[in-house]
Amino acid sequence: MEKTVIGIIGCGTIANSAHIPAYLKNPDVRIKYFCDIIPEKAFGAVEKYGCGTACTDYHDVINDPEIDAVSVCTPNRMHMTITCDALAAGKHVLCEKPAARTYADALKMQEAQHKYGKTLNIGVVNRFSSAVRKIREMISNGDLGEVYHVYVSFRQQRSIPGLGGAFTTNAISGGGVLIDWGVHYLDIMMFCTGDPRPETVSAKAFCKLGVDMKNYVYEGMWAENTKDLNGTYDVDDFVTGFVRTSGPTVTFNGAWAQNIGVGESFIDFLGTKGGIRLNYGSDFTFYTTGGGKLVSYKPEFKPNDMFQEEIDSFVRAVRTGEKQPSHIDTVIITAKMMQAMYDSSAAGKEIVLE
Ligand SMILES: NC(=O)c1ccc[n+]([C@@H]2O[C@H](COP(=O)([O-])OP(=O)(O)OC[C@H]3O[C@@H](n4cnc5c(N)ncnc54)[C@H](O)[C@@H]3O)[C@@H](O)[C@H]2O)c1
Repeated sequence: MEKTVIGIIGCGTIANSAHIPAYLKNPDVRIKYFCDIIPEKAFGAVEKYGCGTACTDYHDVINDPEIDAVSVCTPNRMHMTITCDALAAGKHVLCEKPAARTYADALKMQEAQHKYGKTLNIGVVNRFSSAVRKIREMISNGDLGEVYHVYVSFRQQRSIPGLGGAFTTNAISGGGVLIDWGVHYLDIMMFCTGDPRPETVSAKAFCKLGVDMKNYVYEGMWAENTKDLNGTYDVDDFVTGFVRTSGPTVTFNGAWAQNIGVGESFIDFLGTKGGIRLNYGSDFTFYTTGGGKLVSYKPEFKPNDMFQEEIDSFVRAVRTGEKQPSHIDTVIITAKMMQAMYDSSAAGKEIVLE
């Protein structure tokens, strides 16, 4: 079978740290284009990886009949437009998370996938983590009994990315800590508990600690290179909420920044027979009882490179038509839930989902 021909659209952090290296390791793939509106990034990638052609207009990529599929690694604002254009041009798409800035945009992407019939996966990469998959398996096997509540915490003292840049400008990102980090945590909650149906959502998002950009105190800043202290800061740096689903209830607290000097990144699954604490991006502990005693241990699983698995699965989907758990049809529910969280915050009341 011929190699799958790929175009990379957006050659920034995630493209260089995850997508490109993983495609290069896949023997069934050839990268033909590196596209970025900043020419140095596109040409820099060609030079760095010693393959492909540089371009600055994504239409050049999607109009090339030789291209089978694209990775969309641009800021959130462009996800919907590029994805829909690529699907309409007959290309398969792996679009980075979040699917889009808004639920309405994510729905347009889903409609385009249904209309043109090509694969559309979203970069909910934790669905390819062996630790997360093990938890899903344990929950579906009944090891935890009934999972009645999930508690989620993603809080850091100072972790606002690129202050004033794309990540903190609502018109580009669609939100702050909830849409940027929360999307991963809520997705893990959904995946592990069998993608339950969200029923009601109550949330409050705060825009507090980054507002005074010039006096924001921090030691290091992720995405520092996109910082612009004359730019915009109008997104949430703290979020809290409560969700009822057809499965467990969920509470969550997330902070890009907080005046507490201890960070937390975990998801607790509370079941009637046992509970699990997943340390995000790492291992997990199972708590239960046995022989009249409290027992806890770390179940064995083989750690994997979830980004490699995500890319390999996408390539498999392109080549075989196999549907992945990161398909837009699954991810759309989390997009709906997150939109309801922002809507609940703006309206100051609980939202009932259809
Ligand atoms: N899966 C993960 O864990 C993860 C981690 C980081 C970022 N992301 C997501 O990846 C996306 C990109 O984030 P990043 O950190 O790489 O940002 P980045 O700013 O480092 O890179 C984005 C690149 O896209 C380019 N770009 C913008 N508009 C474009 C267009 N119309 N055509 C071509 N290129 C364009 C920019 O010039 C930039 O080089 C975001 O949606 C982010 O949420 C996901």
